[in-house]
Amino acid sequence: MTRILQISDLHIMPEGQLFNGRIDTAAALRQMLAGLTGLLPVIGPVERLVISGDLTETGCKGAYDHLRDIMADAPLPWRAIPGNHDSREPMRTFAAQEDWMPDHGPINWREDLDDVTILGLDTLVEGVADGAVTDATLAWLEATLRDLRHRPVLIFMHHPPVDTGISAMDAIGLAPNPRFEALLRDHDGPVQIACGHVHRMITGQFAGRPVIIAPGTSHAVGLDLRMDAGISFIQGHSGAVLHDIGTESRALLISSRDFR
Ligand SMILES: [Fe+2]
Repeated sequence: MTRILQISDLHIMPEGQLFNGRIDTAAALRQMLAGLTGLLPVIGPVERLVISGDLTETGCKGAYDHLRDIMADAPLPWRAIPGNHDSREPMRTFAAQEDWMPDHGPINWREDLDDVTILGLDTLVEGVADGAVTDATLAWLEATLRDLRHRPVLIFMHHPPVDTGISAMDAIGLAPNPRFEALLRDHDGPVQIACGHVHRMITGQFAGRPVIIAPGTSHAVGLDLRMDAGISFIQGHSGAVLHDIGTESRALLISSRDFR
């Protein structure tokens, strides 16, 4: 059994600034990391911590510098993919010391763990909120899946490939891509997809594969399923996901109520 922790949508601001002038996303991340550290003795061993995008709110160097300070307390080796609020080059500089960070191009990566291979897919389209699997990323994924053959795969991507019913988020979702869908549908081994972007635990299916959308570490997107509802943010709904993958697979929601 291989265990991987997922956190998402940190939205870190430059030091001294609050999200929307009122939410301390840095304090929320510090609490999450401390809580997960305290939980590790009872949920471990955990191989990896993966951040599924929106590491920062602003995508600027100051925010990544602030995040670097906070991540010094991370209890596990970590990897990350960008979200729509990130900027690729400042993020690349931020994680330049990490061996998984490509030195150019999309921030896609692969790591082979005992029972599963984890893949990071870059869906960031700089300058807009919606996402896409570009031709370059698709070609990389196709070659990688061919190489992996029947091995279980857990794909991390910021933008979910499914609609959520929250219209304001679906309007900035992943661009439909039939080649991406066919690639996942036709792959010979088990595939799971873990996303962020919506700041809520939601499950779905894409290309016949399970999709798990993780909550954020700070604020959630308010629950309003009416057509054309605006977007709102609420606090007290944060969490992480523990992916537990072996002969069986499951995803466990972790909230602050689990912290010891
Ligand atoms: Fe986000």
